[in-house]
Amino acid sequence: MARTQVAIIGAGPSGLLLSQLLHLHGVDSVVLERQNRAHVAGRIRAGVLEPGTVDLLLQAKVGERMLSERLIHDGFALGFAGKSFRVDLKGLTGDAVSVYGQTELTKDLTDARVEAGAKLLFEAGDVAIDGIDGAHPTVRYTHGGRSHELTCDFVAGCDGYHGVCRRSVPPAAMQNFERIYPFGWLGILADVPPVAHELIYSNHERGFALCSMRSLNRSRYYVQCGLDEKPEAWPDARFWDELRCRLPAPVAEAVTTGPSIEKSIAPLRSFVVEPLKFGRLFLVGDAAHIVPPTGAKGLNLAAADVRVLYQALVEYYRTGREELIERYSEQCLRRTWKAVRFSWWFTSLTHKFSDDPFNHRLQLAELDYLTGSAAALGSLAENYVGLPFEASAAAS
Ligand code: APR
Ligand code: PHB
Repeated sequence: MARTQVAIIGAGPSGLLLSQLLHLHGVDSVVLERQNRAHVAGRIRAGVLEPGTVDLLLQAKVGERMLSERLIHDGFALGFAGKSFRVDLKGLTGDAVSVYGQTELTKDLTDARVEAGAKLLFEAGDVAIDGIDGAHPTVRYTHGGRSHELTCDFVAGCDGYHGVCRRSVPPAAMQNFERIYPFGWLGILADVPPVAHELIYSNHERGFALCSMRSLNRSRYYVQCGLDEKPEAWPDARFWDELRCRLPAPVAEAVTTGPSIEKSIAPLRSFVVEPLKFGRLFLVGDAAHIVPPTGAKGLNLAAADVRVLYQALVEYYRTGREELIERYSEQCLRRTWKAVRFSWWFTSLTHKFSDDPFNHRLQLAELDYLTGSAAALGSLAENYVGLPFEASAAAS
C-alpha cells in the first residue's frame, strides 16, 4: 500500500499551495484531483491578492511571474448616486492589493509542483476517506482504471465546496452556517482595455455592477442578475448596455466594448462549517467556507488557511508537538468569520435586495457616511487589503 505524510484532496489553489509549502519544508504529500489538468487550469475566478497572500506565494517560491505581471492597485472606486469616490487603500493602510488572475496563479502552482516531481494525480476518481480518528487514515481512489489505497498521517480536504471531504464527516459532528443571497453575478471576460486603472464597485438602483480586469488589455465585468437567469438571454449588446446604465456617466462613456470570450452566472453564498478539524482531517479553503465575491476574499481566505496548516504540520514533523495542529480550527475560524462579515457587509451595501426604495435610500446614506468618514473608510480599507495575521510560531 502506498504511503505519504499528508494526503491532499483537490488541486485548486489550496491543495497546490499546501503541497508546495510542505515540500519546501521537507514534508511529503500526494495530491489527488478529480478533474484533468486542462480543466483545473481553465477555471476563471477572482483575481485580487492581499499583500499577505502575495507574501505567502513568495515564501512558496511561486511568485516570480506574479511579481512581474501583476497590476498593483493602490485604491479602488465606489460608484453611487451618479458619482465615483476613490478609496485610497495605500493612503489609508499603507498597503496595496495585486491584481493577478487565479487562472494564472493555478498555472504557476501546477508548473512548480510538476517541476519539483510532485505526486500530483489528475483524474483521480471515487476518493473515499477512512480512519480519520486513528493515527493513519487511508484514502481510496481510482486512477488509470485501477483502484488504489494510500495511507497517511493527515488528510487535507482542499476539494472545494462540492468536495468529498466535508461530506465524509458525520453531520452530527459539525455545524453549518449559511446564507444564500437572492441574486447572482453575470460575468464576462473581454479582450478590451479596462475602463479605469482601478476596480469600480457600483451601487445602482437597477443593481450592482463591477468593473475589474485581468491585464491592461483583458477586462472582467459583472452585473448583478436574477438567480433564474441564463447567460444565453444576455447577448453581449444587452450586457454592455446594462453595465453602462449602472455606472456613473463619465465611467459609462469611457467603457470600451467588444466581443465576450467568456460569459457565466455565479450564485452568491456565505457558508462556514465548524469546526475545521475532525481527528486527522482538516478542511481548507472553499471546502470549509464560501464568501460572496464582493471584496474578493475567497482565494485570500484559502491562502490564510494554508498558511496556518502548513506551519502547524511542519511544527508537528519537526518537534512532535501538536499545539498548532490543535489550534488550526480556532485560528482559521477567527479570520474566516471576519472575512465572512466583511463580504456580507460589502454585498449588502452595494447590491439591490428588493424593490423597496427605503433600502436603496439606506444604502446611499451609508455610502455618503462612509465616504465622508475617515474612520469608516479606514475600516473598509483595512478589511479590503486584509486583516493582520495572528503571530504564531512560524515555520522558517
Ligand atoms: N476528489 C478529488 N478532487 C476533488 C473532489 C473529489 N471528490 N471534489 C472536488 N475536487 C477538486 C476540484 O476539482 C477542484 O480542483 O478540488 C479542487 C477544489 O478547488 P477550488 O474549488 O478552487 O477550492 P480551493 O482550492 O479551496 O480554492 C480557493 O476560493 O473563493 C475561492 O476563488 C477562490 O477558487 C478559489 C477558492
Ligand atoms: C474579479 O476580477 O473577478 C473580481 C474582482 C474583485 C471582486 C470580485 C471579482 O471583488
